[in-house]
Amino acid sequence: MTVRYMRYYRLPDEEHSVSRRAQRIESHDDAHEMARRRLPRIVYEFVEGGSERGRALRSTVEAFDEVELIPRMGIFEQPELGTTVLGHPVSFPVLTAPAGGIRLIDPAGEAAVARATGAAGTIQVLSTMTGFSIEDVMASATGPVFFQLWYPGSVERAGELIDRVKAAGASALVLTIDSPIRIPRERSYRGRLPLGPTSVRRLRLAPDAIRRPRWLARYALDRDGRQMPMFRHENGEAMAMWDASKALAARTPTWDDVAELHDRWNGPLVIKGVLTADDARRAVAVGADAIVVSNHGGNFLDSAPPSLSMLGQCVDAVGDDVEVLLDSGVRRGSDVVKAVALGARAVLIGRSYVYALAAAGEEGVRKILDLYRGDIHKTMMCIGCRSVAELDRSYIRAPKGW
Ligand SMILES: Cc1cc2nc3c(=O)[nH]c(=O)nc-3n(C[C@H](O)[C@H](O)[C@H](O)COP(=O)(O)O)c2cc1C
Repeated sequence: MTVRYMRYYRLPDEEHSVSRRAQRIESHDDAHEMARRRLPRIVYEFVEGGSERGRALRSTVEAFDEVELIPRMGIFEQPELGTTVLGHPVSFPVLTAPAGGIRLIDPAGEAAVARATGAAGTIQVLSTMTGFSIEDVMASATGPVFFQLWYPGSVERAGELIDRVKAAGASALVLTIDSPIRIPRERSYRGRLPLGPTSVRRLRLAPDAIRRPRWLARYALDRDGRQMPMFRHENGEAMAMWDASKALAARTPTWDDVAELHDRWNGPLVIKGVLTADDARRAVAVGADAIVVSNHGGNFLDSAPPSLSMLGQCVDAVGDDVEVLLDSGVRRGSDVVKAVALGARAVLIGRSYVYALAAAGEEGVRKILDLYRGDIHKTMMCIGCRSVAELDRSYIRAPKGW
């Protein structure tokens, strides 16, 4: 059953319907809480993550509170939220970030995200660790799809993937460079997702899953849900998650590899996981078209700085040579406005849409994207800024050095 939803702030042209569950999502925190209740703990912990003590995750979110918005009065116009990313128009400056393994969260996984992201008028970045093949995702997509590449250890091995992704019609390659080893996790359940080859390992899920019968039934019926179709055995069959993660033993390339990969791909290249001005300049030197300033959502180096605090110096280092995107810690529309004012062309959201997917499936993702759009609109009205293209540092007060 669907009903029209109401909320505190509605955009003038917002008319479509969403399900009752999606209607209950009014913020990132709502989606987070609904997901926490719906998912077995081990799966929830996989999404929430945070490396070691969770310091980077906390500080990355809190960094947005360090930036204040400075309003201008006497301006009352509907702001223009649209921009372009690598030449593709987006209706507001938010993309959905690559998130591997989300078919465990909802069997419609990345295909649902493709539909919701396209309907919202923006771009999906599909993870190498997708539960649906790029061909299936492209069939569901109504907007551009970028493909995120985990480096498989050599340019030669990456070649087959790259050719397949290109043939399927991905608009850009997003190479993640920030996770040279498997991410260290400390909290008891974390990093112990039951991807193993035996059903004995999967039994670890049982005590939790029994208490989440709805999730369990859908997980059990989704027979292909534990496969990674972007990885194939020699006989052409898709690999199981476990084999696919082993195939990615080396996850990050050197800068020489990046340059070689770029030649092989011969299309728009985005480098994800840059945190310093030096690395931003290196990305330009190897011919990247865009960078994502990111600390992997606080999931990699626990003492890494918040990506928002490093954005300004990366923007200054590259000037107009490449587009600069940001992710990590974005939780609401005003966070997006702050990042754009500090020089980002757009942001990527990760947990926000993954939680919304867990909470209410495709409609949940659509709802959270609508919330972001509405929130950005509201914030722009409040600060008296007419378009995201006009957002700059004059609209914010940030700590020294940001
Ligand atoms: C469940 C999950 C899976 C992820 N998988 C990938 C991945 O396969 N490749 C990648 O580059 N980043 C991956 N990320 C990181 C996101 O792309 C993004 O950098 C991060 O989530 C942004 O932070 P946020 O969650 O605070 O928005 C993943 C994040 C989550 C939450």
